[in-house]
Amino acid sequence: MAMKGVLNADLSKGKINRNIYGHFSEHLGRCIYEGIWVGEDSAIPNTKGIRNDVVKALKQIKIPVLRWPGGCFADEYHWKDGIGPKGDRKRMINTHWGGVVENNHFGTHEFMELCSQLECEPYINGNVGSGTVQEMSEWVEYLNFGGVSPMSELRGQNGREEPWAVTYFGIGNENWGCGGNMRPEYYADLYRQFQTYVRNYGDNKIHKIACGPNSDDYNWTEVLMREAGRFMDSITLHYYTLPNDSWEDKGEATGFDETAWFTTLKKALRMDELITRHSTIMDKYDPERRVGLIVDEWGTWYNVEPGTNPGFLYQQNTIRDALVAGVTFNIFHKHSNRVRMANIAQTVNVLQAVILTEGEKMILTPTYHVFDMYKVHQDADLLELSLDPGSYTLDDSGTEIPAVTATASRDAQGAIHISLCNLQHHAEANPIIDLRGIDLERLAITGITLAGDKMDAHNTFDQPEAVAPKSFEAFGVENNKLSLTLPAMSITTLELKPK
Ligand code: AHR
Repeated sequence: MAMKGVLNADLSKGKINRNIYGHFSEHLGRCIYEGIWVGEDSAIPNTKGIRNDVVKALKQIKIPVLRWPGGCFADEYHWKDGIGPKGDRKRMINTHWGGVVENNHFGTHEFMELCSQLECEPYINGNVGSGTVQEMSEWVEYLNFGGVSPMSELRGQNGREEPWAVTYFGIGNENWGCGGNMRPEYYADLYRQFQTYVRNYGDNKIHKIACGPNSDDYNWTEVLMREAGRFMDSITLHYYTLPNDSWEDKGEATGFDETAWFTTLKKALRMDELITRHSTIMDKYDPERRVGLIVDEWGTWYNVEPGTNPGFLYQQNTIRDALVAGVTFNIFHKHSNRVRMANIAQTVNVLQAVILTEGEKMILTPTYHVFDMYKVHQDADLLELSLDPGSYTLDDSGTEIPAVTATASRDAQGAIHISLCNLQHHAEANPIIDLRGIDLERLAITGITLAGDKMDAHNTFDQPEAVAPKSFEAFGVENNKLSLTLPAMSITTLELKPK
């Protein structure tokens, strides 16, 4: 399928915030415990209890920001249970996720240590659903206050004199659901109250994040922006991609058919409409676009792997997930003047994970490789790329989605990166991109591609490299035009660097 496009290399459309490549790790299943935290005494190589292999892999993709402790867990979490000597910390049941014992060994100090090892920003989500204003206020004081106070003294007793200077702080999670089943009017008032006591200490200014809508709940955004917009720096959006329309039978992570492939990508593409419509409502109350939209939970959600705890949300990850990630990043880039952060759910062993672990073993999923291939866009200038997307239809269904979606940016060194996703499970795509404002002859071009040989191609602990990026050479240059042959089911990133 041939398709034409134009890249205006001299037309910058603003910066792509690196936080769009953020992650989310909850006390859920084997994400924190096993996936990240193994404890100081573990035989698995670790630094201060945190797995070395996982930290190394996440640093490779330049993880910019990490959200914690939930999710639904956040509105059940009482932070004081997770500080002090580990042997004295409360043991309790994680009622929301799998009914397992939560020993609170991973708490505030351990999370901040993780962020320090990852060299990423922490994003902490406070408890509105079952917490108090005082509890939230004291957590912020514990994290950020450098003077004399009960909380800074407590922090010192627990081995940390210096405050941490946390910037991103969420005031509740899914308060329309697991975070308290509230109406937007009620939450808007609670938000205004709680955020009052989330104080700035010293030079550190907290970025206050309000709980936003579920998917297409536009009324939630309307009410929140109207009643509390001026008290927030960002509002969140949660949207998950399920192949089926049922939470009882969401669809399988592997072994699916063409309809499930097509439907999953179609649903992932819906992110564009959701962001557009929520942004339009935000524009009404915030035409200057001061308030950011943070998509702090996104990704695929399937039936769990057979034989695993249904509350652990453990699923495999295929080239289909890699494409969901690629098309979603392309959408986030397009909306980068409103979308300032996004956090995939979730980092390790849960939902659309970038890493899976089994004991001391670790594998990188196809989604991980997309994060790696797209990291070149972090903080780069978005360029104007218009590409005829072609049309991908499934049999006689009449429904069509784009065959290809793409994005382009220029980094601080002047290199241009173009990323393209070929959504078709059965056909190559052949874009021809006319480059304006730059001479292709003066550029050295290299490429990398991630493709599947079947729709559910994935990595396993026995075959960890079944889906891995390869060098991409299927391109040609003529008359300042770049012609490409993109394999079926693939994600490709090209680098055009001044010679
Ligand atoms: O990511 C899993 C769960 O999905 C989160 O805990 C919750 O916020 C959402 O419903």
